[in-house]
Amino acid sequence: MSGVGNKSTNGVMRSTVQMLEFHNGLSMAHLLSVIAEIGVADQLTDGPLRVEELAERTGTNVGVLYRVLRAMASRGVFTEVTPRTFGLTPLAATLRSNVAGSLRDLFRLQGRPCMQEVYAAIGHSVRTGEPAFEHVHGTTLFSYLTERPELSELFSSAMGNVARQVQRPVIDAYDLSGVRRLIDIGGAHGHLVAAILSRYPEMRGVVFDLPKVVPGAADVLTEAGVAERAEMVGGDYLRAVPAQGDAYTISHVLHQLSDTEAVTVLTNIRKVMDPLGRVLVIDPVIPEGDLPHPGKFMDITMLMLAPGRDRTELELAGLFEQAGLRYVETVALSAPSSLVVAMAT
Ligand SMILES: C[S@@+](CC[C@H](N)C(=O)[O-])C[C@H]1O[C@@H](n2cnc3c(N)ncnc32)[C@H](O)[C@@H]1O
Repeated sequence: MSGVGNKSTNGVMRSTVQMLEFHNGLSMAHLLSVIAEIGVADQLTDGPLRVEELAERTGTNVGVLYRVLRAMASRGVFTEVTPRTFGLTPLAATLRSNVAGSLRDLFRLQGRPCMQEVYAAIGHSVRTGEPAFEHVHGTTLFSYLTERPELSELFSSAMGNVARQVQRPVIDAYDLSGVRRLIDIGGAHGHLVAAILSRYPEMRGVVFDLPKVVPGAADVLTEAGVAERAEMVGGDYLRAVPAQGDAYTISHVLHQLSDTEAVTVLTNIRKVMDPLGRVLVIDPVIPEGDLPHPGKFMDITMLMLAPGRDRTELELAGLFEQAGLRYVETVALSAPSSLVVAMAT
């Protein structure tokens, strides 16, 4: 039997086509970074433009820009509204700057050579279990950022924009009435504290992050009108955290830490928290089995960038226990991340 056209050949063909699509994903990821960097989506805010105009505005080769946008439009990022004229789609709109849910800085960050080198070294992580970032750059992600203010700013902006989207459902899903002093560990530029204090007018808040990062929260807290009820504290969560909070949020931080580091941070919180207080972890929670979940790939990013990992509910509960905390509940959210609650007693 030749096998041409039979069921099993069709099955092989389908697998080949699907695998080639994954292969094309490599180009797509790089193209998203380039298109984000040159700001194509911002140019289309007022409506579609001919590719000649877009190329002139972005300083690109018109023939190549057309081929790039055509390829991306075939995946729903931009649309060719009439021949050689492109407009935004909901996916492309996320590449604009200064809009809620902007992913532009995330893709710009991914396109930086220092990050591309890390992606290229993923094999090192797979072979050794060590972060490719440290293998390539000889230092940890955060000490590297501390020495490079412009990159650090881009990193905080990228994280802040993602965080605002991912954290909103958390704020909607969990009642924080009665909390007097909320402390956000690794709070970056204060977006979470700003959003929570805006919702709860009696609450006071603390943004705790590295000394060089935390001043960046001032504008966000002022813009939200909560600066008078908020403090900014610089420090190292592996050494100590601010005391006497009755709620500690820790968003997208545990997953960048090894188990040992995560237990250290949680223990540091437990030692100084209000005995009746709560620890609110916001992180992806990995489901068991083959179910698709964005956290399964975020986990790989953590593998490359830091000694961290994304964890199952059981694994998080194990960390709480080692830190003298008690797992209480997981609030499943529509976002890629969930809220996991622990208490000291
Ligand atoms: C991935 S970002 C998460 C930021 C924010 N919480 C969010 O949900 O987007 C991790 C944060 O941890 C901070 N960080 C890293 N090492 C730290 C340390 N040793 N002590 C305090 N903060 C630290 C970083 O500066 C960064 O703002």
